[in-house]
Amino acid sequence: MNPFDERILTTPCLSDSSASTREERKLRKVFEDTYVAVTGGAGFLGFHLCKKLLELGANVKIYDNLSTGNSKNIDDLTQKKLEFIRGDVRDLGALENCVKNCEFIFHLAAQSSVPYSMIHPTEDFEVNARGTLNVLESARKKGARIVFTSTSAVYGNAEKTPTPEDHPTQPISFYGLSKCVAEDYCRFYHKNYGVEVVVLRIFNAYGLRGHGVIPDFLSKLKRIPHKLEVLGTGEQSRDFIHASDVVRAFVLCAQSQKADGEVYNVGSGTTISVTALAKMIIALLNLRGVTKLFFTGGQAWAGDAKLTHADISKIIGDLNWRPLLKLKDGIENLLSQKRDTGQSQRSCRCE
Ligand SMILES: NC(=O)c1ccc[n+]([C@@H]2O[C@H](COP(=O)([O-])OP(=O)(O)OC[C@H]3O[C@@H](n4cnc5c(N)ncnc54)[C@H](O)[C@@H]3O)[C@@H](O)[C@H]2O)c1
Repeated sequence: MNPFDERILTTPCLSDSSASTREERKLRKVFEDTYVAVTGGAGFLGFHLCKKLLELGANVKIYDNLSTGNSKNIDDLTQKKLEFIRGDVRDLGALENCVKNCEFIFHLAAQSSVPYSMIHPTEDFEVNARGTLNVLESARKKGARIVFTSTSAVYGNAEKTPTPEDHPTQPISFYGLSKCVAEDYCRFYHKNYGVEVVVLRIFNAYGLRGHGVIPDFLSKLKRIPHKLEVLGTGEQSRDFIHASDVVRAFVLCAQSQKADGEVYNVGSGTTISVTALAKMIIALLNLRGVTKLFFTGGQAWAGDAKLTHADISKIIGDLNWRPLLKLKDGIENLLSQKRDTGQSQRSCRCE
């Protein structure tokens, strides 16, 4: 048996509902009637974050150029208290105008694809590094607090797993590199201008309206149930985290003084090989004995890391954040939501 296959390491999940009600009440106090900007709000994670912020009573401004985002995501949000500004993070003037009365900026807009970055490194740099510099500059002028969305790709092929935040960054893709540069700008603005900024290194997020390997498998299996092509050897292993857990990390760290100037991993604290993931999905779809796996072999694509596995002890200790949804439950949840909404995944340039 492939040693990666059964590698599902678990972290205890928080299931105390009175604690989550208390958390919700506290967050409502912070966000109700405040103005917040969400760059990249028309994207996958942006949609889920905006939905949460609107539920908490915030006035939400989405700033997005719709390059990979979807205007349907904006249409599907409650429109009262929501404003959409079509703009580019490379346009400092328009960005400053958007964030001028905002207390918080959640900066998610990005060129978010590893393979695309390997073909378009200049565009990747302009959007991810310069775009973040522009967000920092507007926050400095307007006194807003930033949550910056970084990525596990900054670690590249980490020597230590689970990987803690103080592990050296050694990206193996332009995407990881541009996010590293953006993180450095965040540190610089925090240290030299006192800009309040929290950096979240998100691992593999999944959920409704998402992209990546999980929706890729689901749509392939929907088309052809008896055959599933896996890119690479299938031994590559990923730390998957549900979008709802990522959103909780966003809002918790935005309101925490302790988080100011900090970097946090946001993952499940578990890892699973892509082959084991494929088998899990096949079982959940009742396709065991029906679907055969095929592997393309080698590296799935340029810049793809072999293994990601977050050490999440820092965010647990500082913010009492824990993932609530285990992978199997999250995928079951996704399948039933898809059945209910009849939603198909977006076609995407990326993993
Ligand atoms: N989804 C994940 O697994 C994951 C993992 C790690 C980090 N992240 C980071 O989280 C953030 C959100 O990721 P996502 O999965 O929702 O990606 P996404 O591609 O769905 O969303 C990105 C959004 O940014 C917008 N955008 C792109 N370039 C822009 C520009 N120049 N100006 C304005 N808007 C622009 C897009 O139109 C899109 O709506 C990104 O910063 C990404 O790098 C995501």
